[in-house]
Amino acid sequence: METVDIKNLDWNLLWQQEKNKKTWKSKNAADWDKKAVSFAKRTSTSIYIDRFLKLLKPRQEWSILDAGCGPGTLALPLASRVRRVTGLDFSRKMLAILKQKADEKSLRNITICHGSWEDDWQALNIVPHDVAIASRSLAVPDLKAALVKLCTHARKKIVITDRVKHGPFDPDAFAAIGRPLTTGPDYIYTLNLLYQMGYLPSVDYIELEKELYYPDAGEAMESYRWMFRGLDDREKKLLKNYVQSVTTMNEDGSITLHRSRAPIWAFISWNP
Ligand SMILES: C[S@@+](CC[C@H](N)C(=O)[O-])C[C@H]1O[C@@H](n2cnc3c(N)ncnc32)[C@H](O)[C@@H]1O
Repeated sequence: METVDIKNLDWNLLWQQEKNKKTWKSKNAADWDKKAVSFAKRTSTSIYIDRFLKLLKPRQEWSILDAGCGPGTLALPLASRVRRVTGLDFSRKMLAILKQKADEKSLRNITICHGSWEDDWQALNIVPHDVAIASRSLAVPDLKAALVKLCTHARKKIVITDRVKHGPFDPDAFAAIGRPLTTGPDYIYTLNLLYQMGYLPSVDYIELEKELYYPDAGEAMESYRWMFRGLDDREKKLLKNYVQSVTTMNEDGSITLHRSRAPIWAFISWNP
């Protein structure tokens, strides 16, 4: 029998190969610009924020670098709990939402930085912080390079969240419209890669809601549309039927959506 030696596995290469197989292609800055408003709306009230903060246990004296900060899902609640936050993102629209919300809340300790994972962070004046986080934002061509970058920009701790299996996608919806779902590598590659890089990562899991509430059927439908690109008329109809089959109307006309499998995020932390 052929034997496999785990020491010979290149987890970064395995991660890249799995990424190349996926049907869902990474979005560029313009794609994220288009998604910014709906993404901010969908995530600003999610239990994800509370779970993340409970696991992170932010300390008042910390400076935090939030790479791929989006509309401030975490940068905003963190700013009132720590000394200062730097939010980095390549989507100007996401950063505009972060800026607007920070102004509304009179949060003066957030530095907003327009840039990407691939940029020279030194040229962007990004200095090492106490803690570096990357929440649901490791959409990079080279995972190892991104992890090294985070390590060189954190003095005390690094935290990333990565998909477990299908992550935020609903496999039942893909089955319903007859599309394959290959979402690429999940957290297990990242964990093994970190171990191979000489770190001792801890893992916790953030399990999101199976039931979600929407003011109306249109918004429930919207919460699924982002998962698919280029739906034809037949697929649109099948998706609508699927969403109707998993939703119930409440007395006040609002909608409850019941997913059979909740999205799960791996919360991975380690010391640099
Ligand atoms: C799924 S959102 C996550 C936002 C936020 N961290 C959260 O957990 O809600 C991913 C974010 O990463 C940003 N992003 C994706 N690829 C990027 C890249 N190469 N460089 C910088 N930001 C990137 C997107 O613009 C988006 O705001």
